[in-house]
Amino acid sequence: MWPKNVGIIALELYFPSQYVEQSSLERFDGVSPGKYTIGLGQSRMGFCNDREDVNSLCLTVTHRLLEHYNLHPKEIGHLEVGTETILDKSKSVKSILMQLFEPAGVTDVEGVDTSNACYGGTAALFNAISWVESSAWDGRLALVVAADNAVYAKGSARPTGGAGAIAILIGPDAPLVFDRGLRTSYMRHAYDFYKPDLRSEYPVVDGKLSIQCYLSALDHCYQNYCHKYHTKIGLQVTLNDFDAVIFHSPYCKLVQKSFARLAFMDFLRLRREEVADKLPALVKLHSLCPEETYFDRHVEKTFMERSLRDFEEKTKPSLFIANLVGNMYTPSVYSGLVSLLISKGPEELAGMRVAVFSYGSGLASSMYSISIRKDAQEGLMRILQGLSGVRGELEGRRCVEPEEYTRILELREKNCHTVPYQPEGSIDGMFPGSYYLVGVDDMHRRTYQRVPFDQ
Ligand SMILES: CC(C)(COP(=O)(O)OP(=O)(O)OC[C@H]1O[C@@H](n2cnc3c(N)ncnc32)[C@H](O)[C@@H]1OP(=O)(O)O)[C@@H](O)C(=O)NCCC(=O)NCCS
Repeated sequence: MWPKNVGIIALELYFPSQYVEQSSLERFDGVSPGKYTIGLGQSRMGFCNDREDVNSLCLTVTHRLLEHYNLHPKEIGHLEVGTETILDKSKSVKSILMQLFEPAGVTDVEGVDTSNACYGGTAALFNAISWVESSAWDGRLALVVAADNAVYAKGSARPTGGAGAIAILIGPDAPLVFDRGLRTSYMRHAYDFYKPDLRSEYPVVDGKLSIQCYLSALDHCYQNYCHKYHTKIGLQVTLNDFDAVIFHSPYCKLVQKSFARLAFMDFLRLRREEVADKLPALVKLHSLCPEETYFDRHVEKTFMERSLRDFEEKTKPSLFIANLVGNMYTPSVYSGLVSLLISKGPEELAGMRVAVFSYGSGLASSMYSISIRKDAQEGLMRILQGLSGVRGELEGRRCVEPEEYTRILELREKNCHTVPYQPEGSIDGMFPGSYYLVGVDDMHRRTYQRVPFDQ
């Protein structure tokens, strides 16, 4: 017998305490004003100095979740990390996180790391759900941690960086439930974004191809989701059946285009007579082949205009953090969920159906849906309470000028695998309770400490 209502019980988000203004970056990079802020739809970009790495991000978010929800490590039986920020080709980040469990005598915790660009967090999430629904389940909870430091070499991709971490607690009787039997995936081989140079934090990016891959993955996942829904429930599903749609966000403008893309997909599924009858001006577009329209300006403009009101209602609230922090890679889509949750009250959230699209270059993608239960107000309130500090922390960050941001990235570049290494960055201004890198010894062993709460 499967446990009932398997889903999200708790959420914790972390982002670094400094950011750079995208408008300042436009001036610094000498691009036309509005390219990053309007063209990409990004306001601010969070980033790590040399005091933070993927291990510290994960330590911070996991420790914060345990504290905020008053959880004992023995309550967690499965812990998996999704990340594409690889510091070590053998030792998992999960094993680093065991430092938070060992002092409590807890070592029986399944799971290691999983990676494929921005999709690793979703793969880890699916594994966590599978564990709770499997014969191996022993009644404990599963924890998914996703974190990345998203940095690009100087050039057009740099403003689409970001950094952060999320911890997602999974178990039965959850207020946010994963709809069963409605998960779809689309996986292919593509060289759109990849990290073949293991000495560098930067990816190799084919920007245009990555957009095409993202949109094509979205089309396929959505078509498949609709097909599965029809097979399982016997009804046609359209955007009208979702109260919210959240996306992996490489940059916010692409998400708005993606929402319009789903409206286009709904349109293509209409019967020809219906289009001729109700939307005669759009008849020509109805015979288009989706594969030929990824960069079709007329299709894009038409459906962005037609779907604007729905986008503002169903997706814009989920871009709040993405706009202010940037692409965090694996946590990105889940920061969308956090943004949605903190943008509404519990009464409004209860009963919502949320579609989720997760994409990782290379490529791996999935679409699934979450139902927010009406009869789990207490659990929902706990989650909202746990996230109540997010807005204040976003506002409490330090603004760094592009010159300093660039210097910090150059420092990271230079010392990417230097040992022994003593970080230069100050810990003043880091959020209390954050972990920071103390140093790397000549055996590449990293040690971390926590910023005191009374700093
Ligand atoms: C996304 C990416 C390719 C854009 O780089 P780019 O080619 O230099 O940017 P563009 O010249 O296309 O400009 C971006 C947008 O800003 C618009 N723009 C440019 N200058 C502008 C200005 N002054 N005011 C308003 N908009 C402006 C462009 O028209 C373009 O809009 P469009 O996407 O609707 O065509 C690049 O940032 C990248 O490679 N990022 C990493 C990969 C990624 O995020 N991929 C997404 C899928 S995973």
